[in-house]
Amino acid sequence: MPPGCSKRWEENDMETSVKYEALKKIRDEVLGLMASPLYEYRTSNNYFPVIGEGSHDSKIMFIGEAPGKNEAKTGRPFAGAAGKILDELLTSVGIPREDVYITNIVKDRPQENRDPTPEEIELYGPFLDRQIDIIQPKVLATLGRYSMGYILSKFNLAAKNKGMTALHGKSFEAGASFGKVTILALYHPAAAIYNQSLKDTLKEDFKILKTLAR
Ligand code: URA
Repeated sequence: MPPGCSKRWEENDMETSVKYEALKKIRDEVLGLMASPLYEYRTSNNYFPVIGEGSHDSKIMFIGEAPGKNEAKTGRPFAGAAGKILDELLTSVGIPREDVYITNIVKDRPQENRDPTPEEIELYGPFLDRQIDIIQPKVLATLGRYSMGYILSKFNLAAKNKGMTALHGKSFEAGASFGKVTILALYHPAAAIYNQSLKDTLKEDFKILKTLAR
């Protein structure tokens, strides 16, 4: 199974296989995305693009920023230190990682873990849009300010963007192509690696996430 569209696929489940094929198409397009300023960096380092991972029927879609080194080496989102924090947060509210879907806005690793550029977000954003339409989650849990900014703008809620300190733990209703979706702004787990009080804040916000996904 190639990285990026794995998990929970049963051959006789028609709907699941349609989702699988649609996600596989995204993976193939990103693999050949020579127009990306990150393409050369990916291929010369033998990195993978990181498409996403988890349940294709998840009620929760986590959206991070972009892959780091561990992620680009394995093709899996949140496979490094930030991923350990994410796992801990999921465990704290009893949500198995394999029950959620995890992805990023930008699918290739930016050099030296720099922030993604507006051009990269614009280039990769449509792939995320398609993933949202395929998975049709109940909750879009944004991890960090880039994904929060992207998702609020996408759903015409940019005016609500008052920064992470004000927005974390707050939810917004939006209309997706498939119906209602709830957006929940969360701090990026990487911010909690050396910051216990921020981890505590994230744990509180994950309790809200659990309620929204019921
Ligand atoms: N940070 C992100 O935003 N995404 C990952 O996949 C890993 C670290």
